Amino acid sequence: MSRRKKIYEGKAKILYEGPEPGTIVQYFKDDATAFNGEKHATLEGKGVLNNRISEHIMLGLQRIGIPTHFIKRLNMREQLIRQCEIIPLEIVVRNVAAGSISKRLGIEEGQPLPRPIVEYYFKKDELGDPMISEEHINAFGWAAPHEMDEMVTTALRVNDFLSGLFTGAGIRLVDFKLEFGRVFDGEMQRVILADEISPDSCRLWDMESNEKLDKDRFRRDLGNVTEAYAEVARRLGIMRQNNVVAVANDEGTS
Ligand code: TMP
Ligand code: ASP
Repeated sequence: MSRRKKIYEGKAKILYEGPEPGTIVQYFKDDATAFNGEKHATLEGKGVLNNRISEHIMLGLQRIGIPTHFIKRLNMREQLIRQCEIIPLEIVVRNVAAGSISKRLGIEEGQPLPRPIVEYYFKKDELGDPMISEEHINAFGWAAPHEMDEMVTTALRVNDFLSGLFTGAGIRLVDFKLEFGRVFDGEMQRVILADEISPDSCRLWDMESNEKLDKDRFRRDLGNVTEAYAEVARRLGIMRQNNVVAVANDEGTS
């Protein structure tokens, strides 16, 4: 790992040059940040869990024909991904009011929305990822109109897929965030799903008790963050219960 060239280090992941041209190794750290990096902690085992959960979800999405950057998991903390040019947008889909929409519009957390709502945020840490409209995206050329169509259609398909997947695990998919990237297939340029899908990027509530099983446990100091992520992994059938914590605590990366 140390011999590889680091391409980029973000708040929760590191990207290294991959073994083949056009590939990248995505390394999942244990770091958690919130409020644009103001709050920080190391949560032992989080990276291992997110690597596994994101792999499981990306493979499921590929099975229904959604192109993603995921190639294969390499080890406990790393996956091989396709290199792409990240589009500087965060696409959020909401099914139930929570977080910033509740604050902004005064809708009680937990209120089901009349239909899935898609929102756009400009990916710019210095500005705290401000919410934007399609007008801004078009005017500043952050994504082409056909790319927007592709991303919104895909985001809604991902919402349907994930809602079903999590319902089967007794979990309500409240909302989630997606990122996309551009790849070149010969002459053709297209958009694929990138980044990760994990309890860091979704709100997941237990269907019965509404207990939070996602990063809000960290944002709101509710404790047992890694345990909640492990519960999500267990319910998705990714890891057997008595394996989860042991696996999460295993520092091995090979
Ligand atoms: P929000 O309610 O804070 O706008 O968050 C909406 C969803 O997006 C929620 O599932 C958490 C996720 N999210 C990220 O993945 N990264 C971020 O930087 C933010 C602000 C939210
Ligand atoms: N990812 C963002 C940060 O690190 C915010 C969040 O997820 O709440 O600050």
